[in-house]
Amino acid sequence: MTRARIAQILKSGEPGTTVDVRGWVRTKRESKQDFAFLEVNDGSCMANVQIVVDANLPDYASLIKQIHTGASVAVVGEIKASLGKGQRIEVHAHSLKVLGTADPATYPLQKKGHSFEFLREKAHLRPRTNTFGAIARVRNALCAAIHAFFQARDFLYVQTPIITTSDCEGAGQVFQVTTLDLARLQQSKSPLDYSHDFFGKKAGLTVSGQLEGEIFATAVGDVYTFGPTFRAENSNTTRHLAEFWMVEPEMAFYELEDNMDLAESFVRTIVKDVLERCPEDLAFFNERIEPNLIASLENIVNHDFIRLTYTEAVEILLKSGHTFEFPIEWGKDMQSEHERFLTEQHFKQPVILTDYPREIKSFYMRCNEDGKTVRAMDVLVPRIGEIIGGSQREERHSVLIDRMKECGLVPEDYWWYLELRQYGTVPHSGFGLGLERTVQLVTGMTNIRDCIPFPRTPKSADF
Ligand code: 4AD
Ligand code: MG
Repeated sequence: MTRARIAQILKSGEPGTTVDVRGWVRTKRESKQDFAFLEVNDGSCMANVQIVVDANLPDYASLIKQIHTGASVAVVGEIKASLGKGQRIEVHAHSLKVLGTADPATYPLQKKGHSFEFLREKAHLRPRTNTFGAIARVRNALCAAIHAFFQARDFLYVQTPIITTSDCEGAGQVFQVTTLDLARLQQSKSPLDYSHDFFGKKAGLTVSGQLEGEIFATAVGDVYTFGPTFRAENSNTTRHLAEFWMVEPEMAFYELEDNMDLAESFVRTIVKDVLERCPEDLAFFNERIEPNLIASLENIVNHDFIRLTYTEAVEILLKSGHTFEFPIEWGKDMQSEHERFLTEQHFKQPVILTDYPREIKSFYMRCNEDGKTVRAMDVLVPRIGEIIGGSQREERHSVLIDRMKECGLVPEDYWWYLELRQYGTVPHSGFGLGLERTVQLVTGMTNIRDCIPFPRTPKSADF
């Protein structure tokens, strides 16, 4: 007999059928009338299945004694209509096997709720809780929706390298990858020579797949990458990880307006997909985590995003009379408090800001004629702030060289990127969506460390 998933049993299991259920015990209740109830969960859905174990079962007393919260069990039994309230059906055990016990004196997940801080230290067990099971399912649904969105539009999924020798964002936040013997280097007086390193030059973990994405976009048109990204930025915030996943579409012949249209339709579509696919999990988050969650997601799905320039946004912030921790002025980067003011208080909608000052944006963004701004676009959403960063790319060879120098980069290091502009250059655009910030948006979880299975942050890389 093959194992049945609990989600399937609860949804469509018919009384009278025999099923094989396996999972982990959430609670055990022993009744005086000589039977026991086990609430068993296998992670396929939020709800548990109720197992009724009759005292007539061989070895009943010794089996029940072994079972506590956290134990794993295998049950073969018959589905019956449930007389108790709260569930349509239950499973009456014909056989019950304890696969693994869990000592109640030491098992960390007890019935009472635990703080998310505590659970971060138990990342090996937290997926067994309601909240983290739901986050895992929502994250999975988001990933499926992301691929479905691009595949439906004939974008090619391109794998860009994790180890690279270029710093896409030019922000010096690259984790170095080396096989040099650091201990020996420390002792020797000779200068660092990367020609002896594994790749023959300084290499690191990618901060973005964009530059390589552009190679494929300028050959096959519409592509996207979707993979892990690494940034050694020492910011201990609720929105930053040192390792996060990014989706980066890149499109030839797209100008900034096309890029904004795609980004908006992308965000609205994947949020809609998750609302449809995970109603039970979202209802849980709405009840337990963020009371306004579902309404705010429906608002995103059903309304056009607001579009305005950075300059216009700064004016709104200055005129707002609101006191910010970091005062804003033209030329300064937006902080999340500014982004959240715009989306939560001023517009009450997601917002796309464009045409940021060139001083605060990366070298690859297309320069505007005003000499002060670039064709950047950030998508901002309530509760998070920036969820997407993107731009039209600088496709003019000589302008790009000047801009690289302005940003302190050595054009020769980017010779292949420049050749894309030398041979058959075209207008093109793209953006990057942070997966974990999207999980935050869709679940209402306030800390990004709870939106990836194994968070990596300064001083923390356990599990
Ligand atoms: O704005 P960013 O830095 O843009 C890029 O990397 C471009 N190369 C993307 C492109 O045009 N192809 O990052 C894009 C998004 C952010 O909006 C944010 O959602 C997420 O990636 N992100 C992070 N998420 C978690 N932790 C961090 N440290 C993040 N840094 C960026
Ligand atoms: Mg950004």
